[in-house]
Amino acid sequence: MGEMSLSGNVQIPGVSCTAYTSGYTVIAKMTSRFLENGLLPTLSQYPELKNLLGKGISVVDIGCGEGVSSVVLGKAFPNSNICAVDLLEESVVVGRKKAESLGLKNVEFITGDAAALPAEWNSKFDFVFMHDALHDQAYPDKVLSEVYRVLTPGGIYFALEPFSYTKVKDNLEKLEGMQLLYMISLLHCMPTSLYSECGRTEQPGREKR
Ligand SMILES: C[S@@+](CC[C@H](N)C(=O)[O-])C[C@H]1O[C@@H](n2cnc3c(N)ncnc32)[C@H](O)[C@@H]1O
Repeated sequence: MGEMSLSGNVQIPGVSCTAYTSGYTVIAKMTSRFLENGLLPTLSQYPELKNLLGKGISVVDIGCGEGVSSVVLGKAFPNSNICAVDLLEESVVVGRKKAESLGLKNVEFITGDAAALPAEWNSKFDFVFMHDALHDQAYPDKVLSEVYRVLTPGGIYFALEPFSYTKVKDNLEKLEGMQLLYMISLLHCMPTSLYSECGRTEQPGREKR
């Protein structure tokens, strides 16, 4: 766990994502209801994309967590190859085991940082998918420029994020379960982003941002 100090002289504020291993299993349980029942109907709204996936394209699922979406995509589109990437090794291991137990040969899992994807991935993927992972980023600008770099020319980027309103009041009054999501944001998303802000190798520092 990183050091969170309110008294100044902070070396690494926030909390490492490795401290939340069971937290990601909880998140996978929360997201699987949508991903297992709603992802394919959502993609059906884009027939051209679904057609390409059916024919066979290269896909990267960034911030895949325990790979619920990667497995859904791999099962539904056996001609496509799915590369599932997550920062957290523990989640990647769970996802890999799940894909292996289902005999999915077209889904592979790797540990990696969305803000610094492998250098050899230039123009590698026809379809970049992210579910519930963009808003977690300490460096969304770097992640988006990596997405652009790894996409083939004319490739498709598809980011699905939880719906919310701008005002907290509207979120609390109009959306179900927002109290829980605010709690997760406060106790998980923010501390892990703070940690990665100073924990990454380049350490840009707040004053330079
Ligand atoms: C809210 S979870 C969503 C997981 C999965 N997409 C799902 O819907 O079940 C966000 C995921 O993004 C991953 N993540 C956050 N920052 C990342 C980064 N820079 N690179 C790769 N993965 C990252 C976390 O480890 C976590 O698994």
